[in-house]
Amino acid sequence: MKALFFTLVLALFVAYSPVTADTTSYEKSVQPVLAKSCYGCHNAKVKTGDVDIQSLNGAPSVAKHADLWEKISAKMRSGEMPPKGLPRPAQSDIATVAKWVEEQIEAVEKSTPAAPGRVTARRLNRADARASDSTVPGEAAAASAESATFGCRQ
Ligand code: HEC
Repeated sequence: MKALFFTLVLALFVAYSPVTADTTSYEKSVQPVLAKSCYGCHNAKVKTGDVDIQSLNGAPSVAKHADLWEKISAKMRSGEMPPKGLPRPAQSDIATVAKWVEEQIEAVEKSTPAAPGRVTARRLNRADARASDSTVPGEAAAASAESATFGCRQ
């Protein structure tokens, strides 16, 4: 019984440690940059441009707000945000935020195979391929006759 409990604890630890690591790096490297340069205009009370960055809680928010995170990263990289006249974050801080956003979005895409976009398109193609792999003899014969004719013409 003790061994089982230990195994469970260990399994939980292993299952949750990547999340903890992400949260740590968000809190250590990403959040301070956003807090310093963005929260002043983008918080729950002052949602400039209808954007509340302060309420985003790091990695867990990426799946739901991927578009906003992409925008945050893009605006920082292009130098559009923070607006002109305000002190810009260091280039290395901008790169850290951009890298974090990219990694989180990649992780979300990997963990949600049903997400719309390329993955779904690929799935549909596979379904099409299966449908055309018809086992109806007449159809298969017709298809091969057609390709034979096609071959003669060349
Ligand atoms: C001085 C206030 C101020 C600060 C600081 C500021 N912003 Fe903005 N932000 C604005 C205003 C004003 C708008 C709306 C006008 C616009 O889109 O240019 C805006 C809009 C945005 C938008 C939405 C743009 C869109 O196309 O929907 C994003 C994303 C954004 N800001 C990100 C950031 C990030 C990231 C930071 C920190 C690096 C930041 N902002 C810092 C004032 C600010």
